[in-house]
Amino acid sequence: MRMAVVGTGYVGLVSGVCFANLGHAVLCVDKDREKIDMLNAGEIPIYEPGLQAIVQANREAERLAFTTDLADAVGRSDLVILAVGTPSLPNGEADLGYIAQAALEVGEAMNDYKIVIVKSTVPVGTNEKIRAILSRASAYPFDVVSVPEFLREGSAVQDTLQPDRIVIGADSHEAASIVTELHRPLTDQIFVTDIRSAEMIKYASNAFLATKISFINEIANICEKVGADVTQVAAGMGRDRRIGPSFLSAGIGYGGSCFPKDTQALIQIAGNVDYDFKLLKSVVDVNRDQRNNVIRKMESFIGDLSGRTIAVWGLAFKPNTDDVREAPSLDIIAELIQRGAIVRAYDPVATDNFRKAYDHPKIVWCADALTVVDGADALCLLTEWPEFAEADLERIGERMKQAVLFDGRNVFRKERLEEAHFRYYSIGRPHLNRFSAA
Ligand code: UGA
Repeated sequence: MRMAVVGTGYVGLVSGVCFANLGHAVLCVDKDREKIDMLNAGEIPIYEPGLQAIVQANREAERLAFTTDLADAVGRSDLVILAVGTPSLPNGEADLGYIAQAALEVGEAMNDYKIVIVKSTVPVGTNEKIRAILSRASAYPFDVVSVPEFLREGSAVQDTLQPDRIVIGADSHEAASIVTELHRPLTDQIFVTDIRSAEMIKYASNAFLATKISFINEIANICEKVGADVTQVAAGMGRDRRIGPSFLSAGIGYGGSCFPKDTQALIQIAGNVDYDFKLLKSVVDVNRDQRNNVIRKMESFIGDLSGRTIAVWGLAFKPNTDDVREAPSLDIIAELIQRGAIVRAYDPVATDNFRKAYDHPKIVWCADALTVVDGADALCLLTEWPEFAEADLERIGERMKQAVLFDGRNVFRKERLEEAHFRYYSIGRPHLNRFSAA
């Protein structure tokens, strides 16, 4: 098929490239000329493992091109994918301005029947609004199909090429079957439903995953008080197929561009129909507080943080990405500075993005995982990059004022820290803390 993908953010870029890889002719469109020039020069604006190679291969095969000319791209396509951003408004609601504008421009550019797939995360009822905008702008027939996106940053290419499931929300059998066939090479787990349910599946899925994380974080906090080990508890719970083992890693809370935004949006969606989504509000509160836990822990184990040097391993909201949007590191580092600490920080790829979001004279930016600890009173692990788990702890400890590690992601084993003579504090594993403090 010939398709135009509008929006070259994570979702648009990765989807477009992966469809090209399946053999379709894909034109990726963005208003941002600088981004399009970069992509046409073979540069990828985001850090995403595997993406560069697949972009290059499909450009060379002439199945993939990038343009700012939306009207031309739509005119030459059978199918249009809307993948523009839906950021949060100050009240938490999704801002539909970009998608409304994109729909208007797509409608004006139509020259024949088209299927318009909505991949942006949008509140229930938005696909119908998009249909209304298209109808006003276009004299040609079209169908709107909701295909929410479930890819994760850091494993976006793999998630797109091997998805757990594809959800298709449609009210036309013909359009549903064309879109089903389009996705068939990726998986046989294709779930076709009505448009409103498809829109809701996306929010409900993210909200449920966020709930799992806040749930296990609260269990971790209780484990610390009752002497249980949350990693053991999660492993035991996960053996129950009804619960499953994933998204039960306790830590410093979830971040990123999706869970914080989508949980707030779903609270608003519920509020708009007079429903108080109490559970999800608590999930958000627990997540916020979990970030402060690590600060409280530091204060209780090493005392007043004023004048102390704290080394930080990891700034990205999770490994394999340079994204720091809503990253726990932003709140934790700001709080350390607020309490008078000097911060030495290192991340393999996210430092530039972090500095754009937050910088301070009391932060020393370091080039590697070793020198960042020089003279530190404590080391704090905020992102579980594999290189930290593999670091030579003996050498690390020698360079610090005192060998103290606060592990916000439960990366290390007790034996490893015993050997390296570290005092070690993690999340929800009091036995380790007790051992280390001794
Ligand atoms: C999330 C969803 O997992 C995707 O399915 C969805 O498509 C995407 O949002 C989206 O809506 O676009 P993403 O934000 O890229 O993907 O990353 P996740 O791997 O889900 O991690 C989110 C946050 O949760 C990270 O900060 C991570 O550290 C944290 N997390 C995850 C935990 O604290 N514990 C866990 O057990 C799992």
